[in-house]
Amino acid sequence: MAYFEWAEDLVIDRGPIDQDHRHLIDLVNKLHTATSQGCGQDVVGDILSTLAQYTHEHLRREEQVMASVGFPHLAGHQKGHEKFVADLEALQAKYGCGSITTAAQLSALLRDWLSLHIRRSDRELRDYLDGGKRKRHP
Ligand SMILES: [Fe+2]
Ligand SMILES: [Fe+2]
Repeated sequence: MAYFEWAEDLVIDRGPIDQDHRHLIDLVNKLHTATSQGCGQDVVGDILSTLAQYTHEHLRREEQVMASVGFPHLAGHQKGHEKFVADLEALQAKYGCGSITTAAQLSALLRDWLSLHIRRSDRELRDYLDGGKRKRHP
């Protein structure tokens, strides 16, 4: 069983947002494998920077999708993203000082945040999109 498993209740748009989330989940699993197998700092550092970069890109993309469909809770959602990015950057800086324990903490932070955030917050977008579909196709 993977460290972070994709599950049907993570589905948001059956499109680009889900693809991003699946890719992020793959990267979290890679990071976890690398830290638990005791890979070197360079390997872990590479995965970590790919993951941080992709997280930034995903959050921006998701906010653009939300804006394009008139999602009414965008401002609050953005605040949640900003808080997460701040936590992520703080841990990344700590990792820069050389702690492999920090890398393990990062895979846990990313798994827990993504899992909760997708299921609770991104899900509001799914409900919003579903509501729109129902109105167009009663
Ligand atoms: Fe997301
Ligand atoms: Fe989000």
